[in-house]
Amino acid sequence: MFEAARWAASSYNEQPWNYLVATRENSLEFGRLLSCLAEANQVWAKAAPVLVLGVVSLRFAKNNENNRAAVHDLGLAAGNLSVEATVRGLSVHQMIGILPDKAREVYQIPAHYEAWTAMAIGYKADPAKLPEALKGRDLAPRQRKPLREFVFAGQWGQPSPLVLKPDTGQRVPVPT
Ligand SMILES: Cc1cc2nc3c(=O)[nH]c(=O)nc-3n(C[C@H](O)[C@H](O)[C@H](O)COP(=O)(O)O)c2cc1C
Repeated sequence: MFEAARWAASSYNEQPWNYLVATRENSLEFGRLLSCLAEANQVWAKAAPVLVLGVVSLRFAKNNENNRAAVHDLGLAAGNLSVEATVRGLSVHQMIGILPDKAREVYQIPAHYEAWTAMAIGYKADPAKLPEALKGRDLAPRQRKPLREFVFAGQWGQPSPLVLKPDTGQRVPVPT
């Protein structure tokens, strides 16, 4: 999965992503990484076998200039990692709900690097076993906006003819 992240394209090939990883078999390290997540995420993420903190370098190494694409590129690497995980039958749950200051303190993250997102990685469990408050969210049908609401041509808000074909109702199957 990290090999897939490694091969993400990035602006100027800066590769601004960094990861801190903890597995549940090392309870001390797992607890340290878990403590960097927002409380609402800790509730469910503590059950995952692997936690990952994504840390982004916000400046170019070669000249210390601001890298406007850094967070985009961290996201692209996360996308690659997620696709690889899916191919391997794993699930990735990304999180913006983290405690960046806590992460800096716990891991001594240097200046110009920011803990930005986290991921919980594991095999999908039976949602029926979740606490009531979380069950609904996991069992709800997955939804996305239709293409015509965000693929425009000519002017803002005008759907591109490319996406105005009738909706067949077909959906990408969710891996089980
Ligand atoms: C960058 C990013 C940050 C997210 N942050 C959180 C989070 O902090 N807590 C959480 O429970 N889910 C989080 N999610 C999960 C999204 O809420 C979820 O992907 C979205 O609701 C769509 O769900 P689906 O992919 O299962 O259809 C995040 C997803 C992404 C991509």
